This record gives sequence, C-alpha cells and structure tokens, in this order.
Amino acid sequence: MTAGAAQAVPALRPGACQLWWASAGDAHPRLRELLDEGGRARADRLRQPAARALHLTAHALARTVAAAQLGTPAATLSLAAVCKRCGGPHGKPQPPLPLRLSWSHSGDRVVVALSLGTEIGVDVERIAPFAPETAGRVLCAPERTVLAALPAVRRPEGFARYWTRKEALLKATGDGLTVPPELLHVTAPDAPPRLLSWSGPERPRLPLHLYDLDAGPGHLATLAAFGAPVRLTQHDGSALLAAIGASTSGPETSCHPALTAAERPLAS
Ligand SMILES: CC(C)(COP(=O)(O)OP(=O)(O)OC[C@H]1O[C@@H](n2cnc3c(N)ncnc32)[C@H](O)[C@@H]1OP(=O)(O)O)[C@@H](O)C(=O)NCCC(=O)NCCS
Repeated sequence: MTAGAAQAVPALRPGACQLWWASAGDAHPRLRELLDEGGRARADRLRQPAARALHLTAHALARTVAAAQLGTPAATLSLAAVCKRCGGPHGKPQPPLPLRLSWSHSGDRVVVALSLGTEIGVDVERIAPFAPETAGRVLCAPERTVLAALPAVRRPEGFARYWTRKEALLKATGDGLTVPPELLHVTAPDAPPRLLSWSGPERPRLPLHLYDLDAGPGHLATLAAFGAPVRLTQHDGSALLAAIGASTSGPETSCHPALTAAERPLAS
C-alpha cells in the first residue's frame, strides 16, 4: 500500500466499526500481490471473471485495511479461519486479536467491516428474484407470511432484506449457514432491524445488534454486532484500491504512516 493509501485508513477506535465499500470493477492485477497463497489459489480456481474480480477485491481490501490497523504488511497477514463446527480451515476470518473482521460480496458490491473486540458479521446481497423453495428454507413461518403480504414487485427486496439480516447475524456468531437461517426470526423488512428470536441449541447468550446499511442501487446490506452495539463509520474502499494500483513503489507497506506507534491501537 502507498503512503497515500495508508493515510486513508483511520485508526480504529474501541466501540467503532469501519465499513469499507468497493466494487468488482475496482479489481486490478496488482491486488493479487496482497493476497495470501490460499487466496491466490482460490482466485485461480474461479472461472468466471466477475466472481474472480469480487474475490480479489474483497480479499485485497480486507487485508489492506486490517494490515493498516495492525501495522503489518498485508501480504503476510494471517487471517486463518477455524470452523466453529468441524475445526477445519474455513469459516470466519480471524485476524490477530482484538481486531475483528468480516466481509461480503454480491452482485457488484464488496463490503469489509472492521471492529476492535466486538464480533461482527456483514452481509451484502444483490436484490434478485428468488425461488419459493429458497424462501421456505431461509424464512420462518411468520416471516413467510409477511413476505407473502408484500406487493409482488417488492418481494425480491423484502426477501433480500430478511436474508442480509439473518446472514449478518450468523456471520457475527461465526455459525454461518451451519445454523439453518429459518431458526432465526427477525423484524419485517420495513421495520427497524432487530432479532426477535433464535431457536435451537446454538442460540447465543449475548445480545445481537443489527444495522441496515446503504449498499447503493440494487443491493442491500446489514451489519450485526455480537455482545455490544457499535458506532458505524463509512469509508471509500474503491479510492484505497485505486491508490494501490497507481502506486509506483508496489502495493506493500509495512505500517500505517499516518499513525505513530503509540497511536496505532493494535501495534505492539
Ligand atoms: C459464508 C456464508 C455464511 C455466506 O456466504 P455467501 O453469502 O456466499 O458469501 P459472502 O460474500 O456474504 O461471505 C463470504 C465470506 O464470509 C466469511 N465466512 C465464511 N464462513 C463464515 C462463518 N462461518 N462465519 C462468519 N463468516 C464466514 C468468509 O470471509 C467468506 O469470504 P470468502 O468466501 O471470500 O472466503 C455461507 O456460505 C456459509 O456459512 N458457508 C459455510 C458453510 C459451512 O460452514 N459448512 C460446514 C463446514 S464444516
């Protein structure tokens, strides 16, 4: 990352959650150098250019903003995931504590969320037609009733809103889709976002807080925070990635030049 790009990453404060937004169109070949070996191998396996661009953008942006907070090079940052279910090397990305991280991509949009200490989950979805059987698998009975009562033209948006809220919650707890989303009951799409109930043995003991986000045209997004509310700040990930592409010194940097060591919240 260039000095200019690094300066664009403000220090994360306790209780805050930074949201970094970008698009598939922000992908460029230099971002590949920011990924770890596994991330590059996954990029190579993605056949569709659009899927590859989303993957590259999300991983490069997540690694860049997390590394800037930690004062470490993005390319060597460890985000090793450990599956809550089977212990395998997949699932929620785990940066060094107390940094917490979540990202999501769908359609054209990429969002990366960062916090200190508070577990977070973020989800973005493109608003699109959905199959009735999908709604049957994702929504609980009262939610299906609410969705069916919406005018047909509004149902894709209603379903996407339910989906982003549920997936954000399941990503915040680290369960992902190992917990069936129909076990969660959330408020109606037009109502303020809130978890109403969670059935089954995985029901979390701490409160979960939900925030619907502005994801731009054709997309919806939600952030969930596990245990404590967070204060959201919005950031331009597209500009950050463009600065990396324009750099003449290579995409890597070792620390956050805008912050002294004492100011860097996570540096040792
Ligand atoms: C990840 C998941 C929650 C959402 O996927 P999605 O809507 O297709 O994708 P999104 O772009 O919103 O999010 C993907 C990111 O969520 C993160 N993620 C993956 N599993 C996660 C989990 N259990 N908790 C929190 N975050 C998770 C990863 O960073 C992933 O990024 P990557 O695919 O680039 O590595 C869902 O696909 C899932 O739970 N998959 C795993 C199922 C599973 O665990 N099976 C059993 C294994 S034993």
